Amino acid sequence: MIYFDQAASSFPKPKEVAEAVAEAINEYGANPGRGGHTLANKAAAKIYDTRVKLANFFGLHNPRHVIFTQNATAALNQGILGLSLESGDHIITTSYEHNSVRRPLEYLKRVKGIEITYIEPTSNGEINFEQLEYSIKPTTKLLIVTHGSNLTGAIIPIEKLGAIAKKKNLIFMVDASQTAGILPINMTEMGIDLLAFAGHKGLMGPQGTGALLVNNNIELKPIVTGGTGRQSEQIEQPSELPERLESGTLNTPGIVGLLEGLKFIEKTGLDQIFKHEQTLTEVCLTGLNKIEGVRIYGPDIASNRLAVISFNIEGIDSQEVAMILDQHYQIAVRAGLHCSPLAHQSIGTVEIGGTLRASFGIYNTLEEVEKFVQAIEEIRAGYLI
Ligand code: ALA
Repeated sequence: MIYFDQAASSFPKPKEVAEAVAEAINEYGANPGRGGHTLANKAAAKIYDTRVKLANFFGLHNPRHVIFTQNATAALNQGILGLSLESGDHIITTSYEHNSVRRPLEYLKRVKGIEITYIEPTSNGEINFEQLEYSIKPTTKLLIVTHGSNLTGAIIPIEKLGAIAKKKNLIFMVDASQTAGILPINMTEMGIDLLAFAGHKGLMGPQGTGALLVNNNIELKPIVTGGTGRQSEQIEQPSELPERLESGTLNTPGIVGLLEGLKFIEKTGLDQIFKHEQTLTEVCLTGLNKIEGVRIYGPDIASNRLAVISFNIEGIDSQEVAMILDQHYQIAVRAGLHCSPLAHQSIGTVEIGGTLRASFGIYNTLEEVEKFVQAIEEIRAGYLI
């Protein structure tokens, strides 16, 4: 099988990831922070190592401000809903956001009466900074953006947005679901207050992992309360992080798998990963561009995009093409709206049922990309008969 659905979840994982998961289950499967015995301490120590590694990797000063979640959606919800936004507060975001940003924001609009402005990036991922600054009001509290579109692969210039947020005293939150483990991110240098991401995509960890990294200046109220293993006598949730935002037993096997994923990324090098993915993207874009009737969306130059290519074959339903690729060619891609309906509105593909999306990772090869382009050519030719 050729796996080109890396934007949904990376596959395969480095073998060390699976080994670490199995070791955690088989060798020290106790509850971290819920007991003082050797096995619980070992699990807790491994989790702390992962906090430290994540904090270093993303330029966050305090590892105790790394909050483990089950995925990016949970991290984004905790960040957005935890901010105590009130009626009349204003939030600025982009039309490229995933539903895991849009839905909690729209929920706050409905239930709390907050106001939302959606800025529309260009297809190259450029933001009109003047228009953005013009949208900022005295009531604006939060600027929340994706670092890379899961639909078009466009990379959003978060460094510049962080500087604007700082200048205007806004909380700056970044959804790095598509870029963590692929592009460099430094919260301190980029002025990021809250960083959310999945562990199972570019970071190569297992599914069921994600994190929210919280800068010192940010206070969040928990959206889930319960057992924290400490201060059990109190009715209220503890005030310290990470316990305040981490109720219930953590996913130790997943988190130690994520630790190995991070080690793999560090060993391979972000530069190397991005370079490899860009080469595959360039070859794929060049090949697809030569096929008549293929319309590609998003940045026209590979340097402005992630290894995510959305396209359509004129007159052919994207779901149908995905099915043929899967059944006949054993190539896995994702078709449809990709949980990002606003981004589809921006590129004009809602009415035609979305796009076909191919996304590449570190283990994909040029040969696989060539087979894919050939398959698209054959499918299109087949429909012309
Ligand atoms: N958000 C993931 C995707 O884009 C699941 O496919």
